[in-house]
Amino acid sequence: MTEGIRVAAIDDVEPGEALLLSLELTGTEDPISLFRDDDGTYYCMDDTCSHEEASLSEGWIEDCEVECPLHSSRFCLRNGRAMCLPATEPVRTHRLEIRDDDIYIFPGVPSDTAGE
Ligand code: FES
Repeated sequence: MTEGIRVAAIDDVEPGEALLLSLELTGTEDPISLFRDDDGTYYCMDDTCSHEEASLSEGWIEDCEVECPLHSSRFCLRNGRAMCLPATEPVRTHRLEIRDDDIYIFPGVPSDTAGE
């Protein structure tokens, strides 16, 4: 297991906000974003909606869900599941760890757990 990739400090993202990570940083083909729930909990998922091409980091985050800005499907931040139509497929989650004041992600390693 690798050490993960440091992507941000814990104060870099306000509650209810998201941060789109650069592909150079994540080393992935698909964009990944860091999501911070309104209670301050961090999650990591693919940025692209599973319905069409929309950036979930531009959506609304509340109560452990992100709402797509294009057609309003909501996705569970914990497991990526589509919670309502029109999306039916989940988005991929990625394992996240918080060490001291830094956030590390493990692209491609699914996670159904959240960082504090
Ligand atoms: S693009 Fe996200 S719900 Fe349609």
